[in-house]
Amino acid sequence: MSNEQQVRIYNPSEEVVKNAAVPGMDAYRALCKEAADDYEGFWARRAREALTWHTPFTQVLDESNAPFFKWFADGKINASYNCLDRNVERGLGDKVAIIFEGDDGRVTRVTYKELLGRVCKLANGLRDLGVKKGDRVVIYLPMSIEGIVAMQACARIGATHSVVFGGFSAQALRDRINDTQASVVITADGQFRGGKGLPLKPIADEALSLGGCESVQKVVVVKRTGAEVGFTAGRDIWYTDLIEGKADTAEPEWVESEHPLFLLYTSGSTGKPKGVQHSTGGYLLQAVLSMQYTFDIKPSDIFWCTADIGWVTGHSYIAYGPLACGATQVVFEGVPTYPDAGRFWRMIQDLKVTIFYTAPTAIRSLIKAADNNPSLHPSKYDLSSLRILGSVGEPINPAAWEWYYENVGGGRCPIVDTFWQTETGAHMITPMPGATPLVPGSCTLPFPGIQAAVVDETGTEVPNGQGGILVVKRPWPSMIRTIWGDPDRFKKSYYPEDFKGKLYLAGDGAIRDKDTGYFTITGRIDDVLNVSGHRMGTMEIESALVAHEKVAEAAVVGRPDDVTGEAIVAFVVLKGQRPTGEDAKAMIKELQNWVGKEIGPIAKPKDIRFGENLPKTRSGKIMRRLLRQLAKGEDITQDTSTLENPAILEQLKQSAG
Ligand code: PRX
Repeated sequence: MSNEQQVRIYNPSEEVVKNAAVPGMDAYRALCKEAADDYEGFWARRAREALTWHTPFTQVLDESNAPFFKWFADGKINASYNCLDRNVERGLGDKVAIIFEGDDGRVTRVTYKELLGRVCKLANGLRDLGVKKGDRVVIYLPMSIEGIVAMQACARIGATHSVVFGGFSAQALRDRINDTQASVVITADGQFRGGKGLPLKPIADEALSLGGCESVQKVVVVKRTGAEVGFTAGRDIWYTDLIEGKADTAEPEWVESEHPLFLLYTSGSTGKPKGVQHSTGGYLLQAVLSMQYTFDIKPSDIFWCTADIGWVTGHSYIAYGPLACGATQVVFEGVPTYPDAGRFWRMIQDLKVTIFYTAPTAIRSLIKAADNNPSLHPSKYDLSSLRILGSVGEPINPAAWEWYYENVGGGRCPIVDTFWQTETGAHMITPMPGATPLVPGSCTLPFPGIQAAVVDETGTEVPNGQGGILVVKRPWPSMIRTIWGDPDRFKKSYYPEDFKGKLYLAGDGAIRDKDTGYFTITGRIDDVLNVSGHRMGTMEIESALVAHEKVAEAAVVGRPDDVTGEAIVAFVVLKGQRPTGEDAKAMIKELQNWVGKEIGPIAKPKDIRFGENLPKTRSGKIMRRLLRQLAKGEDITQDTSTLENPAILEQLKQSAG
């Protein structure tokens, strides 16, 4: 590497290379060359090998209506068939598909045959409710077997699901129901997290009462916590009652490859989250292929992705990818710190996990916990079953990488630092565990077939060693198809005119190493924050703040945080007097809770500062650069004479909390 500091390179051991799906860099380069020489052929061959098609496709990539690309458009397929029936048919019926560990530590195992039966029962139940191909179903469930069953049941009948993370508020849920015009909501009475029962159904009830959810005809309720919940006659039905007496077989609905498998809302640079629309065939192909190449999944593996099904990682690497590969996976209901911060390590030990995929924030918080209490250190557990580690969702700092590598992986497990997004559907830039020499902090090289590049504002590729904008030059099968109901926004956000509509704009900055060409992601280039691997728009939080009756104006920025990667800092102008002392503290609490209610607890600003105004240029533009510096506690050194109100900076320097 060309960095001034000596960077340590971690090569895969012979043992790892030997049996890997991509064994060595020559094998990786051969795959890349195959894709470069015959792009469509590369993907078509894998789509035929990796998936079972009801009607084989003859068309591969259709670019006639760019950037609304189509893949395998004349093929017909069913995702649930590929994840379940196909495994049963090839003799894996008695293989464990899911090892579910509850918050309370209770473990339940479900085989492929059982899972198929459960999915079919719910599919039949949903069909009886009138749900049909193309209808939308919103899923607001905790991490549970039922959550996966619900997603698979929708896929089975051709309904498009939209999972809403269980930590989102009534307002956020309402907005998503309204945007999808869902006819059914599947929820639970509540969820267990960290030993506590938290409500879900009451939040769903509130969402439905907010107006704009008239499309919803039925609410299916899973019993999890046993908490007393209200029931609206004619609308609400217990999950157990719905599936009672239903057959455990159900004919899959064979859908066009482009049929929307799911919508998943994510934050952008406006106040309104975007409904990212994914296809069926292309999406599933890359979910499978990345399980094979990036995770080197083998029949004997026990795979554990710690994400929630409310995020894209939980879609590709819990609900679809592992199942489509016939793998055994761990599904975990709880949190990494309950009953103590050794939970992950104990679970890896007891469940003999071989591939472990988590987020840098979790690693950083567990490093802290182990520093404070040596009995929670991974070395106190037997983690010898592990063979591959993964990281996702945010940049992993080299110190956390090295700790993960040495202490969790015992110095023998490659770490795949996977860069991708809700929109990309699957890994885009990532090491291949049996091939790529690893450099901590770099997601290394593109997934075979992915044409990632770093460009300047004009869309021209910059030389290695020079930072720029991350783009993808060719469409890929698992990419976003559109923003639900807003094709113009899709075009503007991802295929902007600045690049003549030819390049996919990821929204991240990146730099490639001078010598190796390795990519390092330098962070978002838009108004999107990444807090604990959760993506949030600054505008979304600002809109929530100004919706409070006492708030006149608000600006939100991120600041680096040791554990969560970034932390949310809000600068607020109240309608009345600027509060100080205890009044300010009380107001901070009130606004944090308000944002928690408007969006969800993950969006609560960590730091709120009050000013009589915000720093603005004479034309009234908020100087966000200055706010970022203030949030970090940096001295403002540059010329502020163009500010309309330089005195305001003093007020905003100090946190009142
Ligand atoms: O900024 C990048 C960051 O997370 C963003 C995507 O967030 P989301 O759509 O919620 O999907 C997260 C899970 C795939 C990206 O634009 N990001 C994701 N993975 C990495 C990353 N940043 C650095 N390194 C990564 N491995």
